[in-house]
Parts: sequence; C-alpha cells; structure tokens
Amino acid sequence: MPNPTKLQPESIAAQALGWIDEKTRAITPPIHVSSTYLRDPDNQYRSGRVYARADNPAFDQAEALIATLENGAQAALFASGMAAATAVFQALAPGDHVLAPKVMYWSLRNWLMNFATHWGLKVELIDMENPAAVQAALQPGKTKLVWVETPANPLWSITDIAATAKLSHDSGALLAVDSTVASPVLTRPIEHGADIVMHAGTKYLNGHSDLIAGVLVTARDDDFWKRVKSVRAQVGGTLGSFEAWLLLRGMRTLYLRVRCASQSAQRIAEHFEKHSLVEGVLYPGLPGASGHAVAARQMTGGFGGMLSLRVKAGKVSGEAAAIATAAHVKLWKRATSLGGTESLIEHRASVEGAGTPVPPDLLRLSVGIEDAGDLVADLEQALQQAHR
Ligand SMILES: Cc1ncc(COP(=O)(O)O)c(C=O)c1O
Repeated sequence: MPNPTKLQPESIAAQALGWIDEKTRAITPPIHVSSTYLRDPDNQYRSGRVYARADNPAFDQAEALIATLENGAQAALFASGMAAATAVFQALAPGDHVLAPKVMYWSLRNWLMNFATHWGLKVELIDMENPAAVQAALQPGKTKLVWVETPANPLWSITDIAATAKLSHDSGALLAVDSTVASPVLTRPIEHGADIVMHAGTKYLNGHSDLIAGVLVTARDDDFWKRVKSVRAQVGGTLGSFEAWLLLRGMRTLYLRVRCASQSAQRIAEHFEKHSLVEGVLYPGLPGASGHAVAARQMTGGFGGMLSLRVKAGKVSGEAAAIATAAHVKLWKRATSLGGTESLIEHRASVEGAGTPVPPDLLRLSVGIEDAGDLVADLEQALQQAHR
C-alpha cells in the first residue's frame, strides 16, 4: 500500500493498512492461535514473543490499523472495553487522585466507585462539560489522570477535549478519553491533546454485535504506556485470536457504517425534537444541545449514531410510556449495547438500576444502518401505541 499517512482514512480502513500475508500472499490474514512461542537453542526468543497472554501476532494488524486511524503511536487490544478502561486506572498507584464524569458509562462508574476506590484510588466525579469544574477539581501533583467520555452515555453530553487536555497537562495529569461513541471517524482525541484513547471495540469498531473487545491507543510509547501493557500481560485481560481477526474485519467498513448511522441519527433527532409525544431529544447534533458548539468543532462529519428520547407522560407516567414505547417497536431491537448494524432501543434506567442519574422517561437509541425512514416510522407507531 502507498504511504498510509498520505491516504484518506477510508482507504486505510477498507484495506486494513493494505497488509497481506507474505507467506501465502493471502489478502486477509490467517488466525494465529498459538498460546506459546519457541525458544531458540541459545535460550533466546528471536520472534520477540514468549506467551500469548502478553502478546499475540493475531493482534498486530488490528493494533496497527487503529493506531493509524487515531493518529497515535501504538495500540493494544483487550478482552473487553472494561478490561481496556480498567487497565488505565490499574497503571496508576493507590493514593492517586483521578477525575471522571458524573454521568458516564455506568459500569465503569460503578467499578471506579467500588473496586478502584477500595484499591486506593481517590476518585472524584465532576461535571466534565464544564472546564471551570475541571479546573477547580484538579489537584496539582496529586491528580494523575482525568477520564473523559465524549459524547457521554446516555445524555450524550460533550467534553471539550482540547480545553480539558490543557488544564490536565498544566496540572501534571494525563488525559484519557473514552471515544467509543465517536469512533475515529468523528473524533481523534490525540489530535486534540489526549494522551490515551479508549474504545469498547465491541461497539462501532467491530460493528456487528458479535464480539466483546477493548482497545487503548497511546499518543506516546512512554513509561505510563509500558505500565498499561504490563497490566494486560499480568492481569490477563487479553483478547482471543478469533476476536482480534473479527475486529479487523469489522474495521474495514467502519467509515461506511458510522457515517450512515450518524446521518440517520441526525434525521431521527430532528424528526422527534418537537414531537407532541416527546419531552425532549438528547443529541449533540441538534443546535439547541448544550454541547453542540464544542461538538461542531471537535467532531468531523457527523455527531454519531447515539441519541436519547425522553417520552412524554400521557395517561401513564413518562417512565411507563417509555417502557411501553420500547415494547411496541417492531424493527428496532430491544437490547442493550450500541454500534451494531441493527438499531437498538432500551429503557436505560432499568438497565442501570438504583442510584442511576438517568431520567426515568429516557429511551437510549443506537441507530444502525437500516433505512432511516423505516426507523422513524417504527418509532412513530410505537409512540402512538404507547399513548393510546
Ligand atoms: C462508552 C462505553 N465505554 C465502555 C464500555 C465497556 O465495553 P465492554 O462492554 O466491551 O466491556 C461500553 C459498553 O457498553 C460503553 O458504551
């Protein structure tokens, strides 16, 4: 392949960097499944690999591709998005202070408030949409990491990555961004100053709802990155070979899928924004959204495939009307997760349970690549049925 730095990312992704298997001239890579590697008679490991918990040739192409698309120095695959995210925190030391958003992917928030706190991290949850709140919470010398998710589950609030990177760095902290929802198609956080980018590869990168995977990308191959890699090797949140192969296959169509989902999400958001049965639409692509101006600067080519609808109360409460709307869809699938080809709908507060900050009338929508008109029509009939 010609120099990948001169090609558009669509071309790089479609050919997965243009690598071929030199041994067989195969266009798609073989799946390496070996758990261990041969030691030479002189006691050296000339392949550079020892054991597949630490490293695996099945990861090479997918890691190189995502590092290129994110404009990072290196990437590492993990067994899940959670394994990737928690490896970043586990590379810190007990006693370190970290900042994270008040409203974020709930499972990671739960892990931070329980496991990580017991382990000794000082976790502070703040309003990440507001740079003044970040500035006020940073403790120079003590805050080691600022964790951002943008757009953030499930209100799709937006954090200004460049402003937060500057504040974090001025205070001596690293900035990590969960960019699962934006994907490198819409935002490349390292270009805005982030040190680490995280993806649940389970979502848009793979795109077909058929694997669990995580990815970290680093801006630099530095000591912190080496600690993150050693967490993977020692704790063992290592991806399987077949999943790495599937993830690479999924990334070849990343640009087509994310652009289609973003366009449809924008259309759905605009259609339901002033709808008589909808209390409000949360989507950064709407000019009235609190994060719209920052998103318009930081996101390129769309605002993503995730949005939430707050359903109006009718004869029943907003919560009951939201659950009834989800019950009446025919095309949308009632399921958690996001970023697949099929559109998903879920009553988010039911998923998150007690203590959730999510409004009870909120339906989280992951827009797939079906016809946008079909998706709108199905939601329309479901809302009408729920308010009968
Ligand atoms: C934004 C975000 N980050 C992280 C994760 C965790 O990923 P995984 O389910 O692969 O562990 C998810 C999963 O829903 C997510 O939506």
